[in-house]
Amino acid sequence: MAIELVPGVYWVGVVDWTLRDFHGYSTEAGSTYNAYLIVDDKVTLIDTVKEGFVGEMLDRIGEIVDPRKITYIVSNHVEMDHSGSLAEVVDLVKPEKIFCSPQGKVGLSRHYKAAWPFEEVKTGSELSLGRYTLAFLETPMLHWPDSMMTYLKEEQVLFSSDAFGAHFAASARFDDELPYNYWYELKKYYANILLPFGPLVTKLLKQVEDLGLSFKVIAPDHGLIYRKHIGKVLDSYRRWAAAEVDPKALVIYDTMWHSTEMLAESFVQGLMDAGVEVQLHHLRTSHYSDILAELLEAGLFLLGSPTLNNGIFPSVGEFLTYLKGLKPKNKAAAAFGSYGWSGQAVGIITEELKNMGLTIPHEGFRVKYIPDPEELKDAKALGEKLAREHLPEK
Ligand code: FEO
Repeated sequence: MAIELVPGVYWVGVVDWTLRDFHGYSTEAGSTYNAYLIVDDKVTLIDTVKEGFVGEMLDRIGEIVDPRKITYIVSNHVEMDHSGSLAEVVDLVKPEKIFCSPQGKVGLSRHYKAAWPFEEVKTGSELSLGRYTLAFLETPMLHWPDSMMTYLKEEQVLFSSDAFGAHFAASARFDDELPYNYWYELKKYYANILLPFGPLVTKLLKQVEDLGLSFKVIAPDHGLIYRKHIGKVLDSYRRWAAAEVDPKALVIYDTMWHSTEMLAESFVQGLMDAGVEVQLHHLRTSHYSDILAELLEAGLFLLGSPTLNNGIFPSVGEFLTYLKGLKPKNKAAAAFGSYGWSGQAVGIITEELKNMGLTIPHEGFRVKYIPDPEELKDAKALGEKLAREHLPEK
């Protein structure tokens, strides 16, 4: 059923209940592709849905108005989870105009190879629909070059594209009664999609303040629509963009014959003795996108790998590649691991962590073959020391 956000403005998106993988990001809670319909003199559709869901979206629009009455389409973002059904919609409704950013025009043209009636908009451009006015705000690299947001001035609704979104399937459309796991999914989305762009998020929040924009509703392209917890969502983004961290540490590892695992468990003991929040993640049982969600607010992590064929474990390499791309900031990190004869893994990890610009308070903890009780005691002591020296007070 279409859901009304404010008079004449409707959610007409779809819920993707069974999605479990979004280009490598694990989506255990499914997702939503939110599209919005504004019924005014110019009937306007803001974004579409992923390919394959167009029928459901058009049915939802049809509950309110004949889809062929749509005059304008606003495309806030080129990525295919929002533009994937655009071609079918354009064929059906034959819109007068498709409003998008200059990079949006480039991206949509490259994706769909069609001569559509694009109209480029920039920050500050406005569009009258009749009783309502849309204002556009370009947000390049949040998180694609084409990204922009659309603001419905009279009702103070921000159509925020991917920003403030979460991969989350639910019968609820609004944040009034948040399901218990929603904040985790919001955090996970930021950590896996927006983390590299923290300075741009900070700039955007400042721009919103400078423009004096206030919001009664924030309507992202994924997850719930906010009308109750807007302050909390904005404050979470401010905090994450500033890379603020908690007294929290993660121990992340893979292991061959449990030696590196024994070290990991000793580090956990030491960190717990320091009184900080600790999590232990085995790289073959925790998905890297979940580890990133937990790492977002952690000020310290230890990454362990045995040496395998003079190098690091493949799962550790995969994690490091993913982590490097997300450009984490304001964290201390150290490597550890067991080895049999050559022992390069700890050095390789330490170098990678240094190259990411993280604080490296220790050159790495290595143990030959099986750790003895004294070495486990040393690992525990090092965990406690790192927590006391590199994490904020509670
Ligand atoms: Fe939800 Fe960047 O697409």
